[in-house]
Amino acid sequence: IFASSDIACKYVADTIITKINQFQPTADKPFVLGLPTGSSPEPVYKYIREAYSQGKVSFKHVVTFNMDEYVGLGIESDQSYHYFMYKHLFNHIDIPKENINILNGHTDNIEAECARYEQKIKDIGGIHLFLGGIGPNGHIAFNEAGSSADSVTRQISLADSTIKANSRFFASPELVPRSALTVGIATVLASEEVIILAFGPAKAKAVKHSLVDEISSSCPGSFMRLHKHCEFVMDESAASEY
Ligand code: GLP
Repeated sequence: IFASSDIACKYVADTIITKINQFQPTADKPFVLGLPTGSSPEPVYKYIREAYSQGKVSFKHVVTFNMDEYVGLGIESDQSYHYFMYKHLFNHIDIPKENINILNGHTDNIEAECARYEQKIKDIGGIHLFLGGIGPNGHIAFNEAGSSADSVTRQISLADSTIKANSRFFASPELVPRSALTVGIATVLASEEVIILAFGPAKAKAVKHSLVDEISSSCPGSFMRLHKHCEFVMDESAASEY
């Protein structure tokens, strides 16, 4: 629990950079990082960009997998998670394009796209560190309530509350896609390490349910307690009911 989200994000950026550097990745042995979108990780990306520009880290041998993507938005759409990731991180660091993995929400074969993604994560040997956020209703990536602990990458219908929460990025709530592709809870739990960001009072209930209440699919965030090495990084307001 940190005094502010900014201090928390600096801690998370420093943690990621330290882990990459300690790992000493090479072309044959890349560091594999799972990444989220949303407002919570934005300062993390800012601090990573800064560290990169100061020569403190290289992403030449880092492979990334993003958590989720809206269905129906092309990569050129400024609401797509593709667009977000290039804008906030990938355009500013030395990661090779072929090392970047983001679900294609514009595919005409969703099932094949999800299976391909899940398999690619397995083939590379899994994710070393999965960074994620949490929705006000406790969703992780786009795993809404009802998602099971053994869920894998798939298409999901978005909850009304998620559409409402995410409508702040769109001109109107009607423009928010009704479904998305998301890695599953099992995909996240299979990572060596997980960090979940939660900032602001709107996340307090989801944090309490995730960390204190019963582990259940009514709050997918609670499944993170099944992981041996999962850290919730919060500011005081998100932790206020914890
Ligand atoms: C979206 C994303 C999630 C993210 C959540 C919280 O629904 N699909 O991956 O964790 O928003 O985002 P924010 O950090 O903006 O509150």
